[in-house]
Amino acid sequence: MGKPTVLVTRRIPQDGLDLLASHFEVDLNADDHPYSPEELRQRAAGKDAIMTLLTDKVDAALLGAAPSLKIVANVAVGYDNIDLEAARRHNVHVSNTPGVLTDATADLAFTLLLAAARRICEGDRYIRAGEWKGWQIMGFHGGDIAGRTLGIAGFGRIGQAVARRATGFGMHIIYTDAQRAATNAEDAVGARFVDKETLLAQSDYLSLHVPYLPSTHHYIGAPELAAMKKTAYLVNTSRGAVVDEAALASALREGQIRGAGLDVFEREPQVVPELLGLDNVTMTPHIASATDETRAKMSLMAAENVIAVLSGNPPLNPVT
Ligand code: GLV
Repeated sequence: MGKPTVLVTRRIPQDGLDLLASHFEVDLNADDHPYSPEELRQRAAGKDAIMTLLTDKVDAALLGAAPSLKIVANVAVGYDNIDLEAARRHNVHVSNTPGVLTDATADLAFTLLLAAARRICEGDRYIRAGEWKGWQIMGFHGGDIAGRTLGIAGFGRIGQAVARRATGFGMHIIYTDAQRAATNAEDAVGARFVDKETLLAQSDYLSLHVPYLPSTHHYIGAPELAAMKKTAYLVNTSRGAVVDEAALASALREGQIRGAGLDVFEREPQVVPELLGLDNVTMTPHIASATDETRAKMSLMAAENVIAVLSGNPPLNPVT
């Protein structure tokens, strides 16, 4: 019997590819373009495992086209691109890459918070456009950080890591989650558990770290934006559809909140055109985990999950 075969849907850091290649036959999409659903179904047929990215939709049609599949190893911590119920019906394991991207993602969330508050990208555009005529005491005022309240929606690994960064900047932390966190997690950053209504009303900065689920679709929409302070900033590094992007664009335009920092969008790579014309939004192209070491670790972790399952063991980082 030949070696098991693994499909890798897009070029990923070499660490994971080398590890896979030392155990399996690897079919790598070396092109820098994502497979169409049809291509993905064709390439997945006959494979024992696939390593997917968050841009690959893993649904019943794909799983049905690949009956020998034993694991879908997503090279991401989020897994809303995968139909878990269909995977369960097809007896296919699903894994993700938690933990290794916590710091990089928290760093980017905090970067967006600071960049939005201190108008970093707007200032950069202003200089490049040759508009800067000299220092002004009244120019480019932004939001204060020290002494302000950071609200965190979703106090898991990443939310807590953002809170740790915020304590170094002298911020107060409040959070909400489906369940209250352990006392030691709260005490580590002096966080206070509140309901969503209080979070919206009291946050000077609100950072989103909830997974994307039917229940978190448009978790922040027009009513929530209306309930926030006019001076507040929203930061989203979770999933785009956690925020109603059109409602956010009008809230930013109307001054209903002061600013936003976004790494994720509802219909990536499209962004609602209205946002593009606004100076009070700072945007990055879904890069929260994009550091050399983090992406290398993600590729290794996904490969280790494939090895575990194809050796007859459960995945190391199962998603159920
Ligand atoms: C990135 O968005 C991830 O889920 O890893």
